[in-house]
Amino acid sequence: MKRKKITVAGAGNVGAATAFMAAQKELGDIVLVDIVKGLAEGKALDMSQASGLCRFDCKITGTTDWGQTANSDIVIITSGLARKPGMSRDDLLAKNTEIVKSVTGQIVKYSPDCFIIVVCNPLDAMVNAAAMVSGFAKNKVMGMAGALDTARFAYFVSEKLGVSVQDVQCVLMGGHGDDMVPLPRFATVAGRPLTELLDEKTIDAIVQRTRMGGIEVVNLMGTSAYYAPAAGAVKMAEAILLDKKTVLPCCAYCDKEYNVGGCFVGVPAVLGAKGVEKVIELDLNEKEKKDLAVSAGHVKELVNTLKKFI
Ligand code: LAC
Repeated sequence: MKRKKITVAGAGNVGAATAFMAAQKELGDIVLVDIVKGLAEGKALDMSQASGLCRFDCKITGTTDWGQTANSDIVIITSGLARKPGMSRDDLLAKNTEIVKSVTGQIVKYSPDCFIIVVCNPLDAMVNAAAMVSGFAKNKVMGMAGALDTARFAYFVSEKLGVSVQDVQCVLMGGHGDDMVPLPRFATVAGRPLTELLDEKTIDAIVQRTRMGGIEVVNLMGTSAYYAPAAGAVKMAEAILLDKKTVLPCCAYCDKEYNVGGCFVGVPAVLGAKGVEKVIELDLNEKEKKDLAVSAGHVKELVNTLKKFI
């Protein structure tokens, strides 16, 4: 069996964590590519030296040369600026659109049949940019945010209830911003609705902490989170490479779905060998529909703004 090939664009905190987690799961050979000379090479060598201890067999290459990424099955874009305290994700729009445009150009050139998973911010806008620049089929381009945001949501619930996080199932929709739409009505703990286990006030506090999950980390350490974002990206790559049909919220193309009208935005989806195989349509109530429309509207505004940088 030929090993799969995964390229991780960007050897910063998120890129390196993504490459290392993917290696530990033996998802395939990994190419870590960055424009800073020596950075990807050094981190790849360091990870390779850990392989005997962590007991994984895969080749990890670090490079500045996109030629080495040729024929990747999946490219995960982590390149771009990260937030500093006081910044919103939207503040990164102009610079990161330029970076995503350039990276996507290289992806099209060297891996025209790959899946693209975007991780950099503002997430939903960057997914739309990668889709526009690549012209790839819409099921092949997606963004990692819902996996991270639901993981945060589930962790906070598990902490509050004192149960294993593995017994908590959460759903969340909308853009990866302060107006994301956590859906407590659809959250369960070992099959029991969350709304029966915690009072409204406690749930509201968890929802708010989930919305602010990213900035809470930024404010503590001065830069953006990377372990949980990397875990989200690897979960998506694994679903695709192993055709797992994993149900996971991710930034996926929606037209008639939820009346989004032609935009990539966070929704629950089935991820398998064909990428985004299906968008799952939940029966939202009026408030949830309205919140999603607001969040999707915000994403669309950003997409309109970024068009001038493409
Ligand atoms: C976060 C960044 C990665 O939510 O958007 O931590």
